[in-house]
Amino acid sequence: MPPKKRIAIYPGSFDPLTNGHVDVIQRALEIFDEVIVAILRNPSKKSLFSTAERLEMIQHSFNGNDALKVDCFDGLLVEYARIKGAVAIIRGMRAISDFENEFQMALMNRKLYKDVQSVFLMTGLRWIFTSSSIIKEAAQFGGDISDMVPEPVKTKLMEKFPLLEDKLRLKPTKKGTR
Ligand code: PNS
Repeated sequence: MPPKKRIAIYPGSFDPLTNGHVDVIQRALEIFDEVIVAILRNPSKKSLFSTAERLEMIQHSFNGNDALKVDCFDGLLVEYARIKGAVAIIRGMRAISDFENEFQMALMNRKLYKDVQSVFLMTGLRWIFTSSSIIKEAAQFGGDISDMVPEPVKTKLMEKFPLLEDKLRLKPTKKGTR
C-alpha cells in the first residue's frame, strides 16, 4: 500500500494573499505532500474581497502546482482538518507580536482535536513587515505595493482602488530610471 499523503492545512483570511503568505506556502510545500490553503468564510468580518475572489486570486498565483489546493471552510478549523485527514495546521510567524495569539489558538485547537499538530513557519525576513491589512491601506491611497503581492492580486487591487491604478499605470519602467 502506498504511504499515506501528509496533508497540511494553511488557514486564514487571505484578504488578500500577500508575498508573505506565498513564502509560507512554498516552505510548507517542501515539507508536506499536499498543502490546502483554506480561506475562512466569515460573514461577520468585513472584507475587501469576496471569498470567491480570494480563492481565484490564490489559484491564479499558484497555477499548475498539483500539491497545492485552495478551498474555503466555515466553522471550526480542527473539524475541517479532521475531515480532510490533515496532519498539520500551518501558521506563519512574522514577529514576537504574532506569538501570543498564535500560541493561544494552537493550544485551543489541540484541546479540541489532538490528532493535528500546529506547525509554525517563519516568513522570509523581507516579508516580516507585510500583512494584508497594511497592504490594503497603502494600496487604497495609491501606495506602490507591486512587489509585495503576486501579480493576480496586484491586478485585483488596482480594480478596487483607482488611485493605485493611476499610480501604477503612470509608473516609469525600470529601464532608464534611477
Ligand atoms: O488570517 P487570520 O485571520 O489570522 O486567520 C485566522 C483563522 C482563520 C486561522 C482563525 O480565525 C480560525 O481558525 N477560525 C475558525 C474558527 C476556529 O476554529 N477558531 C480556532 C479555535 S479558537
